[in-house]
Amino acid sequence: MSKRYYITTAIDYVNGAPHIGHAYEKVITDVIARAHVSLGEEVFYLTGLDEHGQKVQNSAVELGKSAQEYCDELAGTWKSFAERLNLANADFVRTTSPPHKKVVRAVLEKLEKSGHFYREKYSGSYSIKQEQFLTDQDREEDGSFGPQWGEVIELEEENYNFKMGAHQQWLIDYIESNPDFVQPDYRRNEVLGFLKNNELGDLCSSRPKGRLSWGIPFPFDPEYVTYVWFDALTNYISIPAAHGDRGVLEGLGLNPEEFENASDETELWPADVHVIGKDILRFHAVYWPIMLKAMGLPLPKQVLVHGFWQKDGEKISKATGNTIDPIEVIDEWGIDAFRYYVVRELDIGPDGNWTDEGFASRYNNLANGIGNLVNRSLAMTNRYREGVIAEPNDDLREVSEQTVAETTGHLRNNRLQAGLYSINKLIDEANSYIDRTAPFKLAKDPGEAGRVGEILYNLVEVARILGVLLWPYVPGTSEKIYEQLGIEGAPDRLALAVWGGVKGGHHVGKPSPLFPRKDLGDKAKK
Ligand code: ME8
Ligand code: MG
Repeated sequence: MSKRYYITTAIDYVNGAPHIGHAYEKVITDVIARAHVSLGEEVFYLTGLDEHGQKVQNSAVELGKSAQEYCDELAGTWKSFAERLNLANADFVRTTSPPHKKVVRAVLEKLEKSGHFYREKYSGSYSIKQEQFLTDQDREEDGSFGPQWGEVIELEEENYNFKMGAHQQWLIDYIESNPDFVQPDYRRNEVLGFLKNNELGDLCSSRPKGRLSWGIPFPFDPEYVTYVWFDALTNYISIPAAHGDRGVLEGLGLNPEEFENASDETELWPADVHVIGKDILRFHAVYWPIMLKAMGLPLPKQVLVHGFWQKDGEKISKATGNTIDPIEVIDEWGIDAFRYYVVRELDIGPDGNWTDEGFASRYNNLANGIGNLVNRSLAMTNRYREGVIAEPNDDLREVSEQTVAETTGHLRNNRLQAGLYSINKLIDEANSYIDRTAPFKLAKDPGEAGRVGEILYNLVEVARILGVLLWPYVPGTSEKIYEQLGIEGAPDRLALAVWGGVKGGHHVGKPSPLFPRKDLGDKAKK
C-alpha cells in the first residue's frame, strides 16, 4: 500500500450552468493528473458538485421539485460535462451522497467533543447570495456592502461557532515556513497580508433549520444544518474516507465497514494539490487548514490558485450575454483543440482573455504544427517506403532528448504552459528539418534512397515522442498519433519518450488529419 498522488478541483455549485471557468479548472487539473500518471505515479483525481445551501433550496422550490430531485437532474448534466472534457477523474463527489454526509457528521462530532464549537447569539448583517455573515470589514468605504454580496439583510439568531480565530498565529507561521503551501507566490502573499492585517474571527458553522433546511443536519443538534462551506470543504476528505483511506477513517473514528467502496489499498490524504480559482482562496488557505488542524488531520501539500477568464476583455456575465459555452466550442472544434487553447493561452495564476480569433489561430497552429508533421511524415513513409521504417538514425536525437528533459521538468512543477512551449519548439524543429532535408526531392533520385530512409526514421520517431509528450494535454490526439504510427499500447508513460523506440522494419499506418482544416471564412463572417 502506498500513497497515491491525490489532486482535486473545487466542487461546482450544482445550480449554475457549466461555464468556461469550470471547464478550465477541470482541464488544468486533468493535465496535472495525467502528467503524474505519465511520470509513473498512481493518481487519484477528484472533481464533483456542491449541492447544499439556500440557493439550491430556493431554485428547487421555484420549480416545484424536491431539492434532491432537482440536484439529481442537474448532476447528470455536470457528469456528462466532465465526460466531454475527457477527464481522467477517479470519482465524482456529490455532497448529497450518503458517504459524504456521514463524514461531515463525523467531523462535526469530533470537533464538538474536543470543544471546538460554542453557541452564540448573533445579530447583524447577512448576505443571502453568499450565505455569509458580514462584518464591518466587508463594508465599502462609504459604509455600504458592495454588489458582490447581493441582498443583505439584518438577522438575529443563535448558531454554533467554530473557534477559528485561536489558530491565526499558527496559520501565519505555517504558511511562512511552507512556501509551497499556497501558490503562486502572490496568492500566498495575499493570504499572509489578510492574516496579518485583520483579526481572524470565529466561523459561524450552522444554520437554523427553520431558515434553511437543505443541508446536513448537525448530529448533536437537530435544529441546525451545517454551513455550506463547512460541508463543501469536507469533500476533500470524505471521498478518501469512502474509498478506505485509513488515515482519515481513524482520525475521525470511522469504521471502513460503513463504506461500500472502502478498500485496504487506498491511501490518499493529504491531498497533493487542491486546484481552485482566486475567488475562493480564503476558504482554502484559511478556513480549511484550520478545520483540519482542529480535526488532527494533516494539511494538503498545496493550494494552487488559477486566475479568471474574461471574454474580449470584459467580465463574463450571463446577464450581458458575454459568455463562452464550452460545449458549443467542443462540438465545433473538438475537445483537444479546447484543452490546448486554454492551457497554451493561460498560465496557472494570472487572469486570461478568451477571444474567438485567438482560438481559431491556435487551432491553425495545431493543424500546421503537430497535424502537418504527423501527416507529412506518414504520407512520405507510405509513398517512398511502402510504410516500412529504416534502421534508426540520430539526426533529431539530441533535440528530442533535450525537449523530453525540459518538458518533464515543467510537468513536475505544474508549469503546463511552459511544457507546451518546449513541445512546440520540437514540432517546429521537426517541420523545418523536413524543409531543410527535403526528402520529397531526394526521393526522385534512387541513389538517395538510403538518406530518405534515415530522414523518415527521424520524423516518425519524433512524431512518436511528441505523441508521448502531448498525452497529458491532448490525450485523444496522442492516442490517434500512436494509432496512425501503427504502435501498440497507449502513449501514457513519459518513460516511452526514449529515442529509438521505433525499430527498423516497423510498418506505419495511414495518415488522417489530426486537426482538419476549417473554413475560417465562415467563422469570420459570423
Ligand atoms: O465556488 N474563470 O463553486 P463555483 C476561471 N462551490 N475560474 C472560474 C471562473 C472564471 N471566470 N468562474 C468561476 C464554488 N471559476 C464552490 C466551491 S470548493 C470546496 C466549493 C472557478 O461553481 C471558481 O474560482 O462558483 C471555483 O474554483 C470553481 O470555478 C467553481 O466555482
Ligand atoms: Mg463562484
